[in-house]
Amino acid sequence: MADGSTAEGATVDVSTSDDSRVVIRPARSVQGVVRIPGDKSISHRYGMLAAIADGTSRFQNFSAARDCASTLDCMSKLGCSWKRLDDGTIEVQGVGPRLQAPAERLDCGNSGSTMRMLSGILAGQPFTSELFGDESLSRRPMARIMKPLTEMGAGIESADGGRPPLKIHGGSLKAIHYRPEVASAQVKSCVLFAGLFADGETVVEEPIRTRDHGEIALRAFGVEVERAGNESRIAGGQKLRAIEGHVAGDLSSAAFFLCAVALFPGSQITLPGILMNPTRARLLDILLQMGLKVSVAHLEEHQGELVGTIEARGVVWTGGVISGADTAALIDEIPVLAAVAPYSERGLEVRDGRELRVKESDRIAAVATNLRKMGAEVEELPDGMKIRGGQHLHGAELDSFGDHRIAMAFAVAALRAEGETTILGADAAGVSYPTFFAELEAFASR
Ligand code: S3P
Repeated sequence: MADGSTAEGATVDVSTSDDSRVVIRPARSVQGVVRIPGDKSISHRYGMLAAIADGTSRFQNFSAARDCASTLDCMSKLGCSWKRLDDGTIEVQGVGPRLQAPAERLDCGNSGSTMRMLSGILAGQPFTSELFGDESLSRRPMARIMKPLTEMGAGIESADGGRPPLKIHGGSLKAIHYRPEVASAQVKSCVLFAGLFADGETVVEEPIRTRDHGEIALRAFGVEVERAGNESRIAGGQKLRAIEGHVAGDLSSAAFFLCAVALFPGSQITLPGILMNPTRARLLDILLQMGLKVSVAHLEEHQGELVGTIEARGVVWTGGVISGADTAALIDEIPVLAAVAPYSERGLEVRDGRELRVKESDRIAAVATNLRKMGAEVEELPDGMKIRGGQHLHGAELDSFGDHRIAMAFAVAALRAEGETTILGADAAGVSYPTFFAELEAFASR
């Protein structure tokens, strides 16, 4: 809770971000309508592209996440002004393709998306810029964007092992055909954004289809991006035009509430205006397979993105297996699916998820540590985990490991545990969802 307010039933202390803690008491059921803040992935991309567009862009329901504030803050240091209007709309004054050389280092906070995608834009600017982040971001791999950007002609320095901080010597770029080794939408967007400044046609050929918000946002700003098979193509030198848009609710944030519903047969939720982009909505198929009753209504399109109202009902929670392309498609939702897995009938097996080890925390280790503290048996694998179903958990003192999704995942698991659970470092939730604990408390019946 970024504003420090205390939700009924939860004790939240956010006096310093290091020792913030939240206490979650078990619930009898969950029920209600939850309005989820704007999608983080889309908000990042809108913030960056609006800055290099001609004209003034306005976005309703722009994500309130600290991560997206990091993006907007970096864009202001690059000469682009933005403000929040009275109704919450974010207004960004575009400066066109040429940004201003920053007078200071660019602070990306906890946000890998900011650092990786903004690097693509900075690679095409005729100046040197430096990006840094917090302790967690400073551990995350950046070689995945340094490689293609270097091939395109940028000079990039990093700390040992391709870690932040990054110093980017931008300038004229040449188009490349890039085949990333890891399936990463951030890498794809980074290279496509750099492609805007390159001479010729840049192609990203991905090993597995990843979320396509970069392509859709570029098209919304008037850029031609072609998609065929697993390839996305962009010609350099295209101009961006300002847009007015509405950001759909973040499905990855909605996932916490959907998993809470799965825990309580008979409980129900309505989630209006949620992002239904097919590269994200695989979550709903998996939840259906695992026993949640889910339906989607009122489908519409906002700037090329599909949006709908989700209705879900808890019946039985069976669990299952997540592997291959599904793991990549559900990469942000696996922490909460794993946190509630012990309560399922058959448990959960996650494979092909090595990327989970290099997110805001090592999410395999973080989930296993917290579940064990709650009394569950978990088998940790190099690329995933196996969690037995039919287990009873008890409340415990848990750590967020400075990771927003771990903090929120275990607040959900705590609703079905016996006794109270304390989550240390709970303020991490604000990285993607500042009002999460208040919303969860309002949703739980005791
Ligand atoms: C994101 C893509 C994913 C995801 C991250 C946001 C994006 O990362 O985990 O939270 O906005 O493109 P990778 O693309 O690196 O897997």
